[in-house]
Amino acid sequence: MEKVLRFIESNRQRYIEELKKFLSFPSISTNPENKKDVEECAEYIKEHLESIGMENTRVYPTKGHPVVYADWLHAGSDKPTVLIYGHYDVQPVDPVELWTTPPFEADIRGNNIYARGAADDKGQVLIHLKAIEAHLVNNKKLPVNIKLIIEGEEEIGSENLDEFIKSNIELLKSDVIVISDTAMYDKEMPAIGYALRGLCYMQIEVTGPNRDLHSGSYGGSVDNPINALAHIICKLKDDKGKILIDGFYDDVLPLSEKEKKSFYDLKFDDEKYKINLVVDELFGEEGYSTLERIWARPTLDCNGIWGGFSGEGAKTVLPSKAYAKVSMRLVPNQDPDKAAVLFEKYVKKIAPKSVKVKIYNLHGGKPAMTPIESKWIDAAYVALKQAFGKDPVFIREGGSIPIVVTFQELLNAPTVLLGFGLPDENAHSPDEHLDLNNFQRGIVTSSIFYHELANLNN
Ligand code: BES
Ligand code: MN
Ligand code: MN
Repeated sequence: MEKVLRFIESNRQRYIEELKKFLSFPSISTNPENKKDVEECAEYIKEHLESIGMENTRVYPTKGHPVVYADWLHAGSDKPTVLIYGHYDVQPVDPVELWTTPPFEADIRGNNIYARGAADDKGQVLIHLKAIEAHLVNNKKLPVNIKLIIEGEEEIGSENLDEFIKSNIELLKSDVIVISDTAMYDKEMPAIGYALRGLCYMQIEVTGPNRDLHSGSYGGSVDNPINALAHIICKLKDDKGKILIDGFYDDVLPLSEKEKKSFYDLKFDDEKYKINLVVDELFGEEGYSTLERIWARPTLDCNGIWGGFSGEGAKTVLPSKAYAKVSMRLVPNQDPDKAAVLFEKYVKKIAPKSVKVKIYNLHGGKPAMTPIESKWIDAAYVALKQAFGKDPVFIREGGSIPIVVTFQELLNAPTVLLGFGLPDENAHSPDEHLDLNNFQRGIVTSSIFYHELANLNN
């Protein structure tokens, strides 16, 4: 291990240069015009994997964006097989004018590297590639068998990955799944994640009259779909943050006293949080702390709302259509399909009869939970402690990685969420960045983690 760690220490600058290159691909999965960039990024990873000595590297086409696979399986059958998952696709960059420097020309300011995908998830993917490389260069072997799957559709719901996993069970079969696509608890506070929220993402389309109308000639006699939509949205949640959809909370698993205490012990600072976000008051479901609200309670949010005229100046119009995108974060044991049905039923029930309402289920994902009493988690603990010089804490995550449940169900393997981002690194937002010290320590952690996994007795 000493050789590996010294190697990592002395290659810091090269790692940063390689990260810059990886971040230069505008691999925005949702934009059809970036399809070629996404493919080039997949090809780049494949070549990178080959260059560090991974085997069976392959870009698998799917109905959507390609999946990159590689493995190295010569550690011996007495050693565990680890499946590392990550994604190379990124979120759109808009509003692009709010970026300090261009999103695909990585810029280093202070200890941070700024670019779309820096934290979510390219920086964290590269962490594993560099940890693997450090072992292969110095020891000519890996301590454990490693399979890697880096996908290009995570940010659009991993639509085609389920199918890929289903048809490649043998290829992906492994003892444990490792994902670095989450955050640490705080700047100097490494963490192991053990739960993710699920997601149910809906779109509402409200239609009033069959065409846009002059609001003077018709206003007051026909319902306005924007007003009607606003009424609907107002009835989704009460003013204490409780969701009003009938039956919505039926399957929610209440927090145990033990977990409540472990959240409490993290001493989350609401004041600091408010200052960071420049809000005067926090808002959330009454009776729960901030961490409980983010990690262990479901929620509902409008992500976008549009319709009618929003250009400059005034246009007097009574629009024909109005739309909203509404997402619900789900917790164990809620089910996204069930939530979608409840949502549709409720919205249809409360919708004014003067408009027509159509509901679309855009995508969903199940909430995930993994036991913390496991030897895999113990190995992660040791690695984080050694790399950061501090005991890691156990955290849940408010975000979603829907494929985790598919992995658990189809490969029957537990997941370790080993995140190296920070909660305030602007994922999905302008000026996304990654702390380069955490990037470097992530590489150290991962290299020790593989080593620790090899020493587990089965
Ligand atoms: N890396 C995030 C998941 C995440 C976010 C984990 C915050 C921990 C904290 C992932 O790339 C992501 O953004 N997932 C989407 C879900 C997907 C179905 C679009 C999300 O959570 O919105
Ligand atoms: Mn991610
Ligand atoms: Mn993301």
